[in-house]
Amino acid sequence: MSNQREHWGSKAGFILAAAGSAIGLGNIWKFPYIAGENGGAAFIFVYLICIALIGLPVLIAEILIGRTTQRNPVGAFKKLSGKPFWIIIGSIGVMAGFIILSFYTVIAGWSIGYIVEALKGSFSQFADPKVSSDYFNNLVGNAGWVLSYHTLFSLLTMGVVYAGVNKGIENGSKIMMPVLFILLIILVIRGITLPGAEKGLAFFWSPDWSKITGQSVLIALGHAFFTISLGMGAMMTYGSYLSDKDNIPIASLQIVFLDTLIALLAGIAIFTSVFAMGQDPAVGPGLIFHTLPVVFAKMPGGVIFAVLFFLLLTLAALTSAISLLEVVVAYFVDERKWPRHKAVIVFGFVTLLIGVPSALSFNVMSDVLFFGHTWFDNADFLASNILLPGGGLFISIFVGWVWGFDKVYIELKKGSETLFEKHPRIILGWKIFLKYVSPVMIMIVFLHSIGLLESAILQIRTNWVMISLIVTVIYLFINLKMRNNK
Ligand code: PFF
Repeated sequence: MSNQREHWGSKAGFILAAAGSAIGLGNIWKFPYIAGENGGAAFIFVYLICIALIGLPVLIAEILIGRTTQRNPVGAFKKLSGKPFWIIIGSIGVMAGFIILSFYTVIAGWSIGYIVEALKGSFSQFADPKVSSDYFNNLVGNAGWVLSYHTLFSLLTMGVVYAGVNKGIENGSKIMMPVLFILLIILVIRGITLPGAEKGLAFFWSPDWSKITGQSVLIALGHAFFTISLGMGAMMTYGSYLSDKDNIPIASLQIVFLDTLIALLAGIAIFTSVFAMGQDPAVGPGLIFHTLPVVFAKMPGGVIFAVLFFLLLTLAALTSAISLLEVVVAYFVDERKWPRHKAVIVFGFVTLLIGVPSALSFNVMSDVLFFGHTWFDNADFLASNILLPGGGLFISIFVGWVWGFDKVYIELKKGSETLFEKHPRIILGWKIFLKYVSPVMIMIVFLHSIGLLESAILQIRTNWVMISLIVTVIYLFINLKMRNNK
């Protein structure tokens, strides 16, 4: 039957697709530069704790909701709770998918553009970072350049999702993920064999604890959500194509392990090269697009390594972007009974269009500010700092407090009977982290966001944070009251 729900063809297919969603720009572009800015090894230590104590429990919860309901985020909450509040939470997840995809494709588009620039040999003229950053600013300052690659990347994403869960997402991930891994290993070997690479390794591995502040802990936590694709239902949607035979805690552990491994390897490849070529490691978001081309220009065989690097970045971004589009598509297929092909084409183009102001934020719309920031910055801020942690908060609350733990246990046990029998404490630990640790930590992130923006208290962004907080507190209050009255 054509409208029967697809399922992953194999366990490995699911792991690779989910790891593909997790491994993306967050690992290769963002993680190295935030680690570089926040004390290297010390930051990595804090980040690993956030991943293990908060990321992993929330990931298990998301996949579990998906598998139990066999639905998209809206359908899942409808099936499990039916209360309008939770359906709205699911809808916000679908909306977050739209928003993230709309600006994610812009950066991923730059990556394709940089493959072309590397092939053209443009990087060979980069004697120092100033030339390289001028070149970069020139490219992104050109609306046509940014829009073309944004469109190209969006079409690639649509192509994979159009082919379906098995033929597109699963088969695509089975090819792209091993290629990505091989490319990264080649780049790591290149990096560590450069003279002077040990300085890069030392920077990456020797902790500078003085750089660990409240803020860096919060950056680590926020990034943990982004990098594991949590809080907006992407993992829920992928979980909805799983069957009861699969062991969710073990699969989640494997996904988190692969995501962390790739981030660390990317860090090693990048910092060994940057130090060996005498560049500044703490330049922030420009590390990949400004600094690395200079590194490639100076490196023997640099053109080949530059092409490989930006190909790696593009593939990683593609396997993440397809998971974002799949959330939106699954919603229209499940809830509105649209044929998959129609949903992909319509919403692929809608996100492409919503992404246009993000693409123009670096050129013709760079002076058009909303609440003091460009459209791109607002989209990134809204999604990464509010919608994802907010979604994570509500998912933890739902599974920890609302769904009912007896039912949660029954569902989680499916496929992981042996784990339950042998290690009952692990399951108990998961419950505690989900019920108490994750919600409290995420609330702290929100409070911090308010603190960070104190100086701009009149800005509407702050109000968003406040509103989210107030809604949470009211909801918790009502929920507790209802429980007491039962
Ligand atoms: N995890 C992706 C990355 O690290 O680049 C980003 C992402 C993908 C976030 C999918 C959220 C999502 F649903």
